[in-house]
Amino acid sequence: MSIIGKDIKQAATLLKSGNCVGIPTETVYGLAGNALDTAVVASIFRIKDRPDFDPLIVHVASLAQAQQYTLDWPEGAKSLAAKYWPGPLTLVLPKAVAIPFQVTSGLETVAIRVPDHALTLDLLQTLDFPLAAPSANPFGYVSPTTAAHVNDQLGGKISYILDGGPCRVGVESTIIAWNEGVPEILRLGAVTIEMIETVLGKVRVKTHSSSNPKAPGMLENHYAPHTKLVFQGAEKDVPGKTGYLGFDTFHPLYPRENQQLLSPSGDLFEAARNLYAMLRILDQQGLEKIILAPVPADGVGQAINDRIRRAVSK
Ligand code: TXA
Ligand code: MG
Repeated sequence: MSIIGKDIKQAATLLKSGNCVGIPTETVYGLAGNALDTAVVASIFRIKDRPDFDPLIVHVASLAQAQQYTLDWPEGAKSLAAKYWPGPLTLVLPKAVAIPFQVTSGLETVAIRVPDHALTLDLLQTLDFPLAAPSANPFGYVSPTTAAHVNDQLGGKISYILDGGPCRVGVESTIIAWNEGVPEILRLGAVTIEMIETVLGKVRVKTHSSSNPKAPGMLENHYAPHTKLVFQGAEKDVPGKTGYLGFDTFHPLYPRENQQLLSPSGDLFEAARNLYAMLRILDQQGLEKIILAPVPADGVGQAINDRIRRAVSK
């Protein structure tokens, strides 16, 4: 399995010699490698079993570094970066030549962000290249929010995981792109629609997948565990080997040991932090199905409901 530790120097040494390393961010753990090295980028796709049409997010230490790898920032992008970086917001911008097409799956744009995690920011500052890092899970499975989750799934395939503790946010970053100058949210996250509209005014939200998704994080059935998942209300109430992932209230019908609550106190940030870890716990209980309850659709609740909806859809 992988070595799990807090040694930035060891992580940096491995990255400089062309290896991939598991890294913490405030959202979910990433599977990181040198974004400027096409062989390393190819190995990220291989380790994740990720289709090559699904582009990676590039992580940098600062706004200045982001500008080095991108061109033509709309005013709104500058304002968003100034307000929300470091943080769970990814900007899709025209790429500079230095970013290889392997990272962007052939697109002329690159998805880039400054993550808000002290260990990873320190790591990025010691490197003279940015880190391409998709979430550190096999393609299509639930994202990892602890170093142990990464080790469970990719442990045989990477030698080192930088342990930054459990992720503070728990769902992937918000992604925003500009389509002929018009901003469009491609993935919901902890930088909420309201937070973006405070800066840009009204924005379009385009998080539904199409036959040619701009962000395969938008694909239906993208965040699913192995057990069958059903929406609350869509199921017949059949007790037995049924699990329940609720928001703040247990289900009266199912055994308590088959239930998890995202936030007993009804806190949406706590719910986001717990979502993937609790799905993993229930997924390992050998249940026939897991019923998922939606959470209140305010703020980060919209991102949670989006992930739940994708997890249950066929
Ligand atoms: O919070 C996060 O964003 C985490 C952490 C590790 O930073 N990363 C993450 O990466 O969620 P990943 O690979 O699981 O999701 C990246 C998403 C994909 O849906 C991909 O399609 C989209 O970003 N993406 C990447 N480049 C893009 C581009 N040029 N245009 C549109 N979407 C892009
Ligand atoms: Mg992912």
